[in-house]
Amino acid sequence: MENNRSTFASKFGTIAAIAGSAVGLGNIWKFPYVAGENGGAAFLLIYIGITLLISIPVLLSEFAVGRHGQGNAFRSFVNLTGKKGWGAVGILELLGAIFVLASYCVIAGWSLEYIVQSVAGGFQGMTQAQMDAQFDGFVASGWRPIVWMVAFLIINAIVLGMGVTKGIERCSKFMIPALFCILVMLAGVNLWQPGFQEGAAFILKPNWSAVSGHTVLAALGQSFFSLSIGMAAMITYGSYIQRQESLNGVGVIVSLATVLMAILAGLAIFPSVFSYGIEPTKGADLVFKTLPPLFAELPGGYFISILFFILLFFAALTTSLSIMESLVAFFSEELHIKRVWALAIGFAIILISSTLCAMSQMPDSHILVGGETLFDWTDKFCSAYILPLGGLACVILVGWFVPHHVVEHELTSSGKTPLWIYKFIVFMMKYICPVVIIILLVNCILDYFGVDMIAALMSLIH
Ligand code: ALA
Repeated sequence: MENNRSTFASKFGTIAAIAGSAVGLGNIWKFPYVAGENGGAAFLLIYIGITLLISIPVLLSEFAVGRHGQGNAFRSFVNLTGKKGWGAVGILELLGAIFVLASYCVIAGWSLEYIVQSVAGGFQGMTQAQMDAQFDGFVASGWRPIVWMVAFLIINAIVLGMGVTKGIERCSKFMIPALFCILVMLAGVNLWQPGFQEGAAFILKPNWSAVSGHTVLAALGQSFFSLSIGMAAMITYGSYIQRQESLNGVGVIVSLATVLMAILAGLAIFPSVFSYGIEPTKGADLVFKTLPPLFAELPGGYFISILFFILLFFAALTTSLSIMESLVAFFSEELHIKRVWALAIGFAIILISSTLCAMSQMPDSHILVGGETLFDWTDKFCSAYILPLGGLACVILVGWFVPHHVVEHELTSSGKTPLWIYKFIVFMMKYICPVVIIILLVNCILDYFGVDMIAALMSLIH
């Protein structure tokens, strides 16, 4: 199916844009901690195994839907199957896109505030308690996070307004290498920290006794989120991958790049944490409360703080561009309107959802779902249900319903990839991936009702 849609112009640009979507906040503030808590290198090996065996086939199914369907996340499913009903999967993924962006843009806005604070004077001499109060006050103020979130959305709109090749691809070709260099530099500075060995051991020393059924599920969830599966981004970007590119090659390179970046992030973060005898943690607390005063103590601490928050901003921007682009492509193609109007609709939707998320964190806010702030709920609900469901539907479609010659054409890049690799991937898509994702989903549902599936299974076995 050929048409005049935009494509990424070069191989490096393709990899940079897709790696940009994958490498994000999940790699920097979540992966190193989850790895450390779940057995370090033992988790890493399981994570790499799961990524290669489960996540990459799912990712390839999303690429294949996009590249063969040649449309936005909704249209690609319809074009590929000839049935409108399958478009529902695209809509589910677009919903995932909105949910992910709602909190993502708020956090990205925080990183902008912290770049400015770092430039204005840094965090030198601040105690942990002062840092906690500063961040809590900032989030509770309501309007300041909203202003920064809007600034972040405007930056997205400017890049997306320049188009796929001149905007997204050009921006990613600069930001991904820059991100890598900053991470290497920060990890390098940490080499001289007294806690380097302990920090490195936290994520790189295998501790098999910490591995359980939960570890495998944690690795799977992390791997899906990290590869931006189930949030329409990889289908949309798949539709921009040129015919001559090998989907398998792109999938493997991007997956390994995300693992490498996550390890580097761990080496950039945890040596400082251990040097000061602080308990490792993850998420906002780690990045916005624990780290700034620790970085300020390092030689060149002023610049390290600035670099770290620029890193966070780049990581968030390259991811948000891919998710936002899914919405822009959807509105422009389905409503037959100019890209600029589609951008305005996408911008308005995310502006509203992100504002609600930011406001839900103010003291006495009533924007709660099931007792949680909207901010926390969207993130959890999306990761637990929407992303795995989208990935499951996609892999089932490609494994079972799309004609073999179409799948073979996409996954062997018209015969360039050995047939046994194609057969292996299809086997995983048909049988293994669906079973594993269903287990993940059932676990999430049982977890919601307070049932520990792994413990229940163990007791059944005994
Ligand atoms: N892949 C993106 C991340 O890891 C969503 O943050």
